[in-house]
Amino acid sequence: MRELQGAVLAWYAEAGRDLPWRRTTDPYAILVSEVMSQQTQVARIVPRYEAWLERWPTEDALAQASVADVLGAWVGLGYNSRALRLRDACAVVARDGWPRTAAGLRALPGVGPYTAAAVASFAFGEQVAAVDTNVRRVAGRIGLGTPDELVPAGDAATWNQATMELGALVCGARRAACDACPAAPWCGSAGQVVVTARGARGAG
Ligand code: ADE
Repeated sequence: MRELQGAVLAWYAEAGRDLPWRRTTDPYAILVSEVMSQQTQVARIVPRYEAWLERWPTEDALAQASVADVLGAWVGLGYNSRALRLRDACAVVARDGWPRTAAGLRALPGVGPYTAAAVASFAFGEQVAAVDTNVRRVAGRIGLGTPDELVPAGDAATWNQATMELGALVCGARRAACDACPAAPWCGSAGQVVVTARGARGAG
């Protein structure tokens, strides 16, 4: 397990994309990036994320924004309700402060288990797996344990970014580039991912 973890972390250090929200531990900025990512591809989010943070640099600023301004700035990013709940979450945080754990973050409007774990690990260093569809698929194909069991001790934040990146760049739903995968030597599905009309699945 430790060799697998080391290989994935080394691959991420080398091949991971330099995304702006990976350079911050500000929980507000991270929450914005995660809510935007729920429906839109990363490449398209980067300029929107930067513009959003320029306009509303803090949770307090967003909490005071008008509904019309928030919806205007969200055009093209998916369901309007996500933007409104993001603002509602910031209003709670502006009043009460940031919950620093995934369990606490889940009480915020619009924050589900994945987003809560992402913010808790990236902003507050909580040792929790952030399990989205990419991470679930990667762990399922590797077959050595649940996503939580794969997290290296003390390194959840980087591990979460690394496994998301593996799912986005190498271990795709429709295409698994096992030749380029750092986990291949330990992976139960290496070279055996079967692509179907609807996507790919691990063998067995
Ligand atoms: N999609 C959701 N969260 C992400 C992140 N932190 N980095 C890249 N893609 C993501």
